[in-house]
Amino acid sequence: MKISIIGAGNVGTSIAFAAMIKGLADEIVLVDVNEELAKGHAIDLSHGNPYVKPVKIYGGGYPLSEGSNIVIITAGRTQKTGESRLHLIGDNAKLMKHIVQETLSFSKAPLLLIVSNPVDVLTWVAWKESGLPKYRVIGSGTTLDTARLRQNISRHCHLDPRSIHAYVIGEHGDSEIVSWSTANIGGVLLGEFCDNCVNNCQGKDVLKKIYEETKNAAYQIIKKKGSTYFGIGLAVSKILEAVINDSHSVLTVSTIHEEFEGIKEVPFSVPSVIGRNGLERVLPLNLSLEEQEGLKKSALTIRSVIDTISI
Ligand code: 2OP
Repeated sequence: MKISIIGAGNVGTSIAFAAMIKGLADEIVLVDVNEELAKGHAIDLSHGNPYVKPVKIYGGGYPLSEGSNIVIITAGRTQKTGESRLHLIGDNAKLMKHIVQETLSFSKAPLLLIVSNPVDVLTWVAWKESGLPKYRVIGSGTTLDTARLRQNISRHCHLDPRSIHAYVIGEHGDSEIVSWSTANIGGVLLGEFCDNCVNNCQGKDVLKKIYEETKNAAYQIIKKKGSTYFGIGLAVSKILEAVINDSHSVLTVSTIHEEFEGIKEVPFSVPSVIGRNGLERVLPLNLSLEEQEGLKKSALTIRSVIDTISI
């Protein structure tokens, strides 16, 4: 299993680090325009080999990525303090096209895993540019937001975040929503769980607060430390794990929906089954009317940005 990571910045290297610790790949390649930087990170990471399942790891230019099974694209400009992800499209769409062309000249039909922002729109760009089937082009989507949501609920309810089945869906960005109506803890719907709350919390207000904290997490982190990378590193390693172990995991990745509520070719995240070939299927959604409206608005937001791109 050969994985190449395009972009050896904080996000790319955090993904490499997480993948290495989890023993996911035989070979990891870091590709960056700054080849020396990629080499330096690869050498540094390789020094951890005696303490993990050893992996061949090296860094440099695109030719090193030849014959990759999975190519993860993290390169691109990142958000400045207060800037929305969608603002990045002007800079990052053109770059994504270039990266996809370079990538495909060295690997025939890799699984493309898009992480650069705005991830939904760039997943669409990568899909169009690559000509690969929809199930082979996946965006990290709201996998990180779903993790943030579960972590926030877990902190509030004093529960293991892994026992919380709640999803953030739609755009990885300001229009994302939580599918509260399907959220459950050990099979108990969240509403019922809250009715029997032992923490004396104010149900609805708390959920609203948790949603806002989840949605705005990246803004808060960027304000404090400039960028986010550990969380996304682990989120992407979970997607890699699902593909490499063919584990059929349900993850909120961003994929292209041929048609959704009258909107054509629109990428967004919903709980989806991920295995060796990429997307296996999208699960049916059982949303409240308000959530359906929210998801449609989110899809329209993404599609309206795609419509501004000439490809
Ligand atoms: C994040 O949500 C910035 O998209 C990145 O952490």
